[in-house]
This record gives sequence, structure tokens and C-alpha cells, in this order.
Amino acid sequence: MRKKRVLLLGSNGMFGSDAISILEKNEFEVFPLDLPEVDITDLNSLDKTFKERKPEMVINASAYTDVDGAERNRELCFKVNAFGALNVAKVCKDFNVFLVHISTDYVFPGDKKEGYLEEDEMGPSVNTYGESKLQGEIKIKEILDSTNFLICRTQWLYGKKRNNFVKKIVFMTKEKSEIEIIDDQWGVPTWTKDLAEQIVYLIKNNFCGFAHTVGGGGPITWYQFAKEIVELLKSNCIVKPISSEKLKRDAKRPKYGFLRNTKIPKEFVRNYKESLKMYLKEESFI
Ligand SMILES: NC(=O)c1ccc[n+]([C@@H]2O[C@H](COP(=O)([O-])OP(=O)(O)OC[C@H]3O[C@@H](n4cnc5c(N)ncnc54)[C@H](OP(=O)(O)O)[C@@H]3O)[C@@H](O)[C@H]2O)c1
Repeated sequence: MRKKRVLLLGSNGMFGSDAISILEKNEFEVFPLDLPEVDITDLNSLDKTFKERKPEMVINASAYTDVDGAERNRELCFKVNAFGALNVAKVCKDFNVFLVHISTDYVFPGDKKEGYLEEDEMGPSVNTYGESKLQGEIKIKEILDSTNFLICRTQWLYGKKRNNFVKKIVFMTKEKSEIEIIDDQWGVPTWTKDLAEQIVYLIKNNFCGFAHTVGGGGPITWYQFAKEIVELLKSNCIVKPISSEKLKRDAKRPKYGFLRNTKIPKEFVRNYKESLKMYLKEESFI
């Protein structure tokens, strides 16, 4: 069977780099691309790439993801997350290519205790990064028919690359006997590999529109997640709960950002505890 040609934008990032092998395992011919080869803020750069690679599908995982930095670099953040997403949608329209775009729970205000469904009203976001991602979603929806895109919102990602929350806890437990972790923000930890597998499921089953693609078994707080990491590490480090106010950060975070995954059958959604164990083993942390 001929493999589908998939352009993976943001392939050097935490999600992108882990997604390559999952996509290839699932019979996609992957063209991994990132800066400097392709810049999503430059329409010509995208146009040239599409002409050369002739993709049948695009997965856009490229983004400006420094949530606190976005408060100081609003222009760059919007340039990439809002106008970059618009550019990707424009070339997808021009070349009649299906777009899978990765988005975030930050498009919601984070005040819904029971969690957000795909069709819930978006905005207002609580920070600049969220606003920019929200604008990205809006622009994609304006440009493309709902049958020509799939927006996958995810949250609390961890993977092989970058200094993500799980790695931070692993390293903190080696250096400290006691750590303080936020206990008033709710969400679901999501392993990059699980996200990639959920996206493959949605693509193979011809889903379009909006999907929430997160780990199973939540929601929990960062404190609860840290406790589980410490337990699996068999570390004696004590984890203490604190409120977000104590941790001074430039960007506000949503309190109840929990995304409810309604499109993917339960048997395809791995429980976050199982994923965490698999990840820690893969990284040789346990
Ligand atoms: N991490 C999370 O917890 C989380 C949660 C919810 C949603 N998401 C979303 O998931 C997606 C993947 O996130 P991630 O954590 O894998 O992010 P990441 O590690 O920061 O990867 C993003 C990639 O995009 C690249 N990029 C930035 N500007 C670009 C441009 N103008 N043109 C082309 N590529 C560009 C980055 O390159 P540089 O590194 O050189 O800038 C990086 O390689 C993003 O859409 C993000 O918004 C992430």
C-alpha cells in the first residue's frame, strides 16, 4: 500500500521529535521540518516547501511555546502562533491538503470545574500564549472548511526533549529533600507518544473539526502528579502542596484547564499513570 505523505512542521520540538517514529510505524511517509528549513511566519517558505514535498497531509506542531516569555514577546508569539497558523492554513487551502493543527487547553479561560468539551465556547484566555493559540484556531476555522482540518487540543505535555515537568521533578528530587508544587491547577498529563498515537487514530478514522487529545484518568493537580513521579522514583523527597500565588510567574495559568476527551474510545486512551511509568522507564529514570 502506498504511504500517505505527511509534512510534520515543528519536528525538532518535544512533540514533533517523538511523533516521527509513531507516524512512521503507522505507515506514513514523514517529512520532518522545522526552522531554519521552513519558517511558518513566511508564506513563501511554506509555498516552496509544499511545491517540493507535495504533502497529502500536514501536522503543524510548530509554535512559540514559552508561556512566560510570551508576556514579554507578545509580537513574536502572535507572529508564530496566530499568523503562522494562518499561513499554514492558507497553503493547505491552496494545495488542497488536510491540516492537523496542535492546540492547547489555554484557549479556554480555565474556570470550568467539570472540564471542557470540544464544542465549548473558547476564550477569553488568561495569558498571551493562550490568546495567540486561540487566534490561531480562529484563523484556521475562517480559512478552511471544517472537513479540511483537525485541531487537536492537548495539555501538560512531556516527552523526550526539553526540560518538561516530569524531568524537572526527577532532577529536583536528586538535589532537594523537600519540594513545593502547585496544588490548585487541574489538568491531565499527556505523554507526547500518546498524543501522537491519538492523532493517528483520529486521522485513520477520518475525524475532522476539533478533538481533545489528552492522557486518560485525570484530572489531577501538578502536586498530585509530582507525588506520583516521586513515588515511582522511590525517592524520599517530600512533596508539599502550595498555591499558584506563591510561585511568582509572568503568565497566569488556567485553574481548571482539564480537557475532556470525547472523540477517542477509552481503549485507545492510555491512563496517565501507565504512561508515566512507561516514560520513566524509557528515559532510564526508573
Ligand atoms: N508543551 C506543552 O505542554 C503543550 C501543551 C499544550 C499544547 N501544546 C502545543 O503542542 C505543540 C507542540 O508543542 P511542543 O511542546 O512540542 O513545543 P516545542 O518543543 O517548543 O516545539 C515547537 C517547535 O516549533 C518550532 N518553531 C518555532 N517557531 C517556528 C517557525 N516560525 N516556523 C517553524 N517552526 C517554528 C520550534 O523551533 P525553536 O525551538 O527553534 O523555536 C520548535 O522546534 C504546540 O502547538 C504547542 O502549542 C504544548
